[in-house]
Amino acid sequence: MERQPTILYIFGGSGDLTQRKLIPALYNLFLDGYLPGKFSVVGVGRNDMSDTAYKAHLRKGVQKFSRRKDEMKKEWSRFSSHIDYERHDLLNDKSYKSMAAAIKAQGEKWGEEPTVIFYLSVAPQLAPAIAKKLHAAKLCANPKRSRIVFEKPFGHDLKSATELNILLGRMFREEQIYRIDHYLGKETVQNILALRFANALFEPIWNSNYIDHVQITAAETVSIEGRGSYYEGSGALRDMVQNHVLQMLCMIAMEAPISFDADEIRNKKLDVLHAIRKWRPEDVHQEAVRGQYSAGWMEGKAVKGYRQETNVAPDSKVETFAAARFYVDNWRWKDVPFYVRTGKCLNEKTTLITIQFKPAPDYAFPDEATHTWRSNRLMLSIAPKMDIRLRFQAKQPGPHMSLQPVDMVFNYSSAYGDNDPEAYETLLEDVIEGNPTLFMRADQVEAAWKVIAPIMEVWQTRPPVDFPNYTPGSWGPEDAEALIAKDGHHWVTLPENRGEQGG
Ligand code: BG6
Repeated sequence: MERQPTILYIFGGSGDLTQRKLIPALYNLFLDGYLPGKFSVVGVGRNDMSDTAYKAHLRKGVQKFSRRKDEMKKEWSRFSSHIDYERHDLLNDKSYKSMAAAIKAQGEKWGEEPTVIFYLSVAPQLAPAIAKKLHAAKLCANPKRSRIVFEKPFGHDLKSATELNILLGRMFREEQIYRIDHYLGKETVQNILALRFANALFEPIWNSNYIDHVQITAAETVSIEGRGSYYEGSGALRDMVQNHVLQMLCMIAMEAPISFDADEIRNKKLDVLHAIRKWRPEDVHQEAVRGQYSAGWMEGKAVKGYRQETNVAPDSKVETFAAARFYVDNWRWKDVPFYVRTGKCLNEKTTLITIQFKPAPDYAFPDEATHTWRSNRLMLSIAPKMDIRLRFQAKQPGPHMSLQPVDMVFNYSSAYGDNDPEAYETLLEDVIEGNPTLFMRADQVEAAWKVIAPIMEVWQTRPPVDFPNYTPGSWGPEDAEALIAKDGHHWVTLPENRGEQGG
């Protein structure tokens, strides 16, 4: 099917995200034939730069960050002929007038009204002003032919997110607004829906009768990577839990959709967010743990403590680690804890979801057969390893009956090779096509802020007493172990890296 002619404006076109993610993703879409024949990308930045210099800068990004570096020579020049650079002050009306004229001229050249996408990869505080200017210049007047993409963070808390939603709602239709959560574009996250709802096997046991608890770990080895000024206003709870972690929780906990219609899926996820128990202030210290990394060593290299990072206050109270216990108060998940944790400078880069099943109700095996007995467990490795492993008991070969847990593994790379599309490919293609399923709707964003609001409020009003409280390369503060240990569990890590730790 021939796609609608499309112009993509990237505001923040000379920034990091454009070079690292957006252009490599667009290039891959181009190589795979997913871009419309009539397609134009306009990078918008504040500095003077020639088209040639801009393309050279983007080319470097593709060479460094793309999964398809090797295909540079052949197709890059064809792809880059679709790219231009424009210098604009995005707070000046003239910029928008000139964009309007350029869009009109391009449409006339193509002989068709193009779809115009404005991708806001800019400091979040600029987003409302830019949105107002786009509206005033009538650049998004046709809801079928114009879209605006917002990078996270969407708001700073419930109040600011709600205000932003109200403002946008006055100017644009909800279906024009694409709020990105890049985790939703990850293959393995999308595959949760396939695993749960395309198989008859799992859904009947996907509830509190059979599941003991769920764990979600989104651990990073990197520090804040020079993003001090952003991170000081954010912290791990806002940066990762409000969006990525809660979205993964929703995919695990949601009810079966009756169709793959965007709103149907988003409604089901919204139900989960509404059902998550909101902690009372007096519960927060029992249900959530925060941490901040000290100076230390990782893989033989000295690592600065968070408080020594550039643009970070020397007595900063901002958390670089967050863990919490949530409950989804509905019929399916009654009393099943969902433990989540995320942090910087941790032991391993891993995003892992673990579904821990309850023990078999009874077993007739002699005691000596069951020494190494473990409950069933399903582990979904989201990244960087991409696999699904189901742990079950098997008889160890030999003359005696002795049981041992074994893993049945589905591995993405052995099944499909190592060439999976990156999250931004999927998401950009969806924006171009006009499919909002994987994007956050206004009410979802607000509901997610509501979940973390009580924790945020308590953490703001009661400063931490023990920061920094974990060393780089560890799994975070000891209290995070205690959070889960008090229920008789431990955090699960992937067996290859850490050895099986019992269950
Ligand atoms: C971003 C956060 O949303 O996600 C970063 O702002 C974090 O702090 C990143 O590093 C992690 O993404 P991924 O895809 O590398 O797990």
